[in-house]
Amino acid sequence: EQHPKAVIVIFGATGDLAKRKLFPSIYRLVRNNKIGKEFAVVGVGRRPLTNEEFRHNVQESIQSSIEDSTETDEFSSHFYYHPFDVTNPSSYNELKTVLHELDNSYNTEGNRMFYLAMAPEFFGTIASNLKKEGLTDTKGWSRLVIEKPFGHDLPSAQTLNQELREVFNEDQIYRIDHYLGKEMVQNIEVIRFANAIFEPLWNNRYISNIQITSSEVLGVEDRGRYYEHSGALRDMVQNHMLQMVALLAMEPPIKLATDEIRSEKVKVLRALRPVNEENVSDYFVRGQYYSGSLFNKSVPAYREESNVDEQSMTETYVAGKVMIDNFRWAGVPFYIRTGKRLKEKSTKIVIQFKDIPMNLYYNRKEDLAPNLLVIHIQPDEGITLQLNAKKTGSGVYGKPIELDYCNNCLDGINTPEAYEKLIYDCMRGDATNFTHWDEVALSWSYVDTISHAWKKEKAELAFYRAGSAGPKEADELLERDSFHWWHVGDDLGC
Ligand code: BG6
Repeated sequence: EQHPKAVIVIFGATGDLAKRKLFPSIYRLVRNNKIGKEFAVVGVGRRPLTNEEFRHNVQESIQSSIEDSTETDEFSSHFYYHPFDVTNPSSYNELKTVLHELDNSYNTEGNRMFYLAMAPEFFGTIASNLKKEGLTDTKGWSRLVIEKPFGHDLPSAQTLNQELREVFNEDQIYRIDHYLGKEMVQNIEVIRFANAIFEPLWNNRYISNIQITSSEVLGVEDRGRYYEHSGALRDMVQNHMLQMVALLAMEPPIKLATDEIRSEKVKVLRALRPVNEENVSDYFVRGQYYSGSLFNKSVPAYREESNVDEQSMTETYVAGKVMIDNFRWAGVPFYIRTGKRLKEKSTKIVIQFKDIPMNLYYNRKEDLAPNLLVIHIQPDEGITLQLNAKKTGSGVYGKPIELDYCNNCLDGINTPEAYEKLIYDCMRGDATNFTHWDEVALSWSYVDTISHAWKKEKAELAFYRAGSAGPKEADELLERDSFHWWHVGDDLGC
């Protein structure tokens, strides 16, 4: 396969995302020979940096991935910095000249990727200036990559989308949901559609419920200002959690083409059962952490974090029961939960199959466990299948056993980072693992029913201690349906 060629323009190049994710990802793409020599990166930002200072930052950010330090000078020589004021047309004009020059020196054929790694209030301004000043007017392709938040509700997302669509077509807009770049999230589809043994059972006749957990140890760090207006519902559920629901619930696409997969995901999102203020507390729990301790260190309450209101009612935790009202999933709850400052960093999906119709074994039914398929997303990547087998010895007793497969335990397999794959996909024009506008809109309209209901109902917060497993209300949510959260295959043995 040919190396993709492009000039990548990163808006917000002095920010956290660029440093933590984007530079290291580009480095690994080069090191792994996915990108050749025909690329350049232009960092733009408000701060007045020189190319040298910028390259120094780039080198620093890739320290932990470096194998051979002689390569890094060559690598960082592809990086340029351009001080920039997003509201000033002459900034764009100057940038245009820079891009032309780089096109020529790096033979990038006029291909441009505009990566907006910055506050969303400027997305519209940047897009319209890019067009007005002719930066999208190029003989190659031009693509826009944007990070969330994509609005804070449906109306604001629609406004933002209209602004972008005045400049870019839908197929030029790459909306990042970095969960879609994760190896095991991409694996959901393969596990489902490349095996004969799961798909026949993948419905409400054989599956009793599905549980998706994404727990984090970190608090809100320095993002208090953003998070106060977002909360866990908008920050995690509207995007990552619902994307995982869609991948688990969608019908098999007729082929692995971007549009085919998307249209199956869209159908799932259309079937989500909206909630209202009368029933929202039957479906969703919102929580917030108070002070506690993690790894023997005490940590403050959410309300004590910087840029957070002392009386903040923002949720740092959500647990919910998502119902998909279609033929395949009628009656099967998809339980989701996600929160900050929990006892461990872990993302996992548990598919619980229905119980056997009768128990033939000497032990009580409770001694047998339901069949579970666990998809470990992170930090462990793998699959656990829980079955029942015979207990060794006389008498026919059953006992649960676990078959484990670990995807990232083998030496030498270094799973690529989500961003690495997504940047590469965008350069190649593959939008499968990006969110289409239709998905964004449908997710918002569902999530808006929850946030509106919470607001009307003046929903209480369920408080949980930092470092705990979350509020007890999240357990009660499942207990009401005679289920409980599973902790299976926590250690894949690597
Ligand atoms: C981001 C959220 O989208 O995802 C963060 O804005 C969250 O609040 C992060 O911490 C979690 O991502 P990951 O890859 O660490 O699970």
